[in-house]
Amino acid sequence: MIKINENYLKLKAGYLFPEIGRRTRAYQQGHPQARIIRLGIGDVTLPLPAAVIEAFHRAVDEMSDSATFKGYGPEQGYEFLIRAIIDNDYKSRGVDLSLDEIFVSDGSKCDSGNIQEIFSVANTIAVTDPVYPVYVDTNVMAGRTGAGDERGCYEGIVYMACTPENNFMPEPPEQDVDLIYLCYPNNPTGAVAGCEALARWVAYARAHKAILLFDAAYEAFIRDPAIPHSIFEIPGAREVAIELRSFSKTAGFTGTRCAFTVIPKELQAYTAGGKAVEVNPIWHRRHCTKFNGVSYPVQAAAAATYSQAGKKQVRELVDYYMENARIIRTRLSEFGYQVYGGVDAPYIWLQTPDGMGSWEFFDKLLNEAHVIGTPGAGFGPAGEGFFRLSAFGDRDNVEAAMERIGRLV
Ligand code: MLT
Repeated sequence: MIKINENYLKLKAGYLFPEIGRRTRAYQQGHPQARIIRLGIGDVTLPLPAAVIEAFHRAVDEMSDSATFKGYGPEQGYEFLIRAIIDNDYKSRGVDLSLDEIFVSDGSKCDSGNIQEIFSVANTIAVTDPVYPVYVDTNVMAGRTGAGDERGCYEGIVYMACTPENNFMPEPPEQDVDLIYLCYPNNPTGAVAGCEALARWVAYARAHKAILLFDAAYEAFIRDPAIPHSIFEIPGAREVAIELRSFSKTAGFTGTRCAFTVIPKELQAYTAGGKAVEVNPIWHRRHCTKFNGVSYPVQAAAAATYSQAGKKQVRELVDYYMENARIIRTRLSEFGYQVYGGVDAPYIWLQTPDGMGSWEFFDKLLNEAHVIGTPGAGFGPAGEGFFRLSAFGDRDNVEAAMERIGRLV
């Protein structure tokens, strides 16, 4: 008799964004005339930059000619892309990486979900709360937790509350944890992490032989020059951190799919007997076994984001979304909402009015303003009482959504 992986039965019924989609479709069916504005999932709306499209087309043409056609590529990514990443994203910030420390992939969601499988199920994981649900759910699937409670907390996970009082950046825990998920600029709160806060995490990880999984998918939205873009800007991080980066939000690749993971050679984990093992070759082995690489045209398109024209066009995309963020922040503040984030990040995190539950506020916005956001409780118990708006909409929709929300107060 075939047995199911019962860990999946512990998961809450639906992944957050499909659940929002389900509720939205149900509402739309009952109200076909309603023009719904979606500021829920952080999905980009502007097309790919021109330099990216040109490179994409060129690469597709190369695939039509036997002289330039490409079959399987290197699983960890083509050298032309990895070199461009190292030179532009890291060298420019004083971080030296070698070619084999970067693994190109089809998304940070996949990488952040897959990475846990190279670590023992006996590890204790710690997450900031509220949190990108993928970090938690993939550990539940792997059997690293017990059951979930009614607030959505799973037994065995250490939840570190992110609140306005700690500027949405918790202190490292008192207890021993092994794998720590940090995402800064943060999804969902829009908070950023300065050098000192990150240095405390690096020190913790070094002292506890733990690993930091640093998700930097939103680094391109940082405006403040004092905020680090990479965990590897923090001294000592190479021995204790993995970094995730993505072209999704930076360059409009949510539907095109390209990202990368950085695993320094110095990073070690330990056998049950305490013997140190390098993590980089283990991820390499896993990557080569389970993944055949991102398609050549997509990698060529990603590399074009680093050309002179590409950089300028990417900057324009980011500026456009950050202007949306500014508009959302400013208008909501004028309406009397307590607002966080949206300055160095494309997410605005607002306190729901009058202590309203976050799903209740979701329903209110949907029913009365036809605006979709993301209820904070969907990101974890500490998200209750908060609500996330994404700045990735188009400008007219953002303006219209603000006008509608303004009419509610
Ligand atoms: C979000 O809205 O939190 C993101 O779009 C999710 C993702 O990047 O997978």
